[in-house]
Amino acid sequence: MQYEAIRVRRLSPVIGARVEGIDLARPLGNQQFQEIHDALMAHLVLFFPDQRLTTDQHVAFSRRFGKPMIHPAAKQEIEGHPEIRVVRADENSKIVAGDAWHSDMSCEANPPMGSALYVTEVPPDSGGDTLFANMYAAFEALSPPVRDMLRGLTAIHSGAHVYSNAFYDKDGEKRIPQAEHPVVRVHPVTGRECLFVNAGFTTRIVGLTKLESDSLLAMLLRHCEAPAFQCRLQWGEGGLALWDNRCAQHHAIFDYWPHRRYGHRVTIGGDAPFGPRRLSPARSRGAR
Ligand code: SIN
Repeated sequence: MQYEAIRVRRLSPVIGARVEGIDLARPLGNQQFQEIHDALMAHLVLFFPDQRLTTDQHVAFSRRFGKPMIHPAAKQEIEGHPEIRVVRADENSKIVAGDAWHSDMSCEANPPMGSALYVTEVPPDSGGDTLFANMYAAFEALSPPVRDMLRGLTAIHSGAHVYSNAFYDKDGEKRIPQAEHPVVRVHPVTGRECLFVNAGFTTRIVGLTKLESDSLLAMLLRHCEAPAFQCRLQWGEGGLALWDNRCAQHHAIFDYWPHRRYGHRVTIGGDAPFGPRRLSPARSRGAR
């Protein structure tokens, strides 16, 4: 692909690119936006190093790609910005958010199309990288009979075991987000098929016995973790990563305790996933 407004360099043959020659603090022109969008569709995760952004600028950049979502379980920590999810680890942290393969908030009926994480503090001596994996490549690497079987299946994605805080919908009802999505998702922009199950949220495949569901899920999740589908992002202070949650998974590596790492994530709203056979647009089970 030819770019005129940005410079794009691959992070690996299969996923990820570093984007230079652009200052995200300034409003994006139409050509800049179009080229970043094209690069995101081609590489699934883009890394913009050495940015200096205010929270308003970070949110304005994210808004070009869709409406920010308010994370149901996140503490609202940044005054006037409920859409910011703080990503923080320090000497008191025993765990960090995102330390398992997942696609952000896939337990929602309309899971986010993407996320934009801006990291302003990194561990002093390496660590705190994030792995990303290409779910088009994962799907295409399966054998034709398995691909065909998966095209007819849906799976439950649940937040019950993930979110420790109770959270409430606008009527004040306690809500545990849970949704049913096709196992093979058709990307709404590229039209390509990708695997849409992840270790963080997917709990069972609908219509199978427990043994069948557990075994098939275990196989798929192990398959998705193959290094050949991945890149590893080393952040650096002021790095912003924009990723497509519809066709990529990620895994934050917590290997830097007791050091600090700090960033802000904007999660960008998306559509109900649909499968190749138009099985079911995501049905929210909305367990209460
Ligand atoms: C996440 O959004 O899952 C966190 C990613 C990271 O901290 O690198």
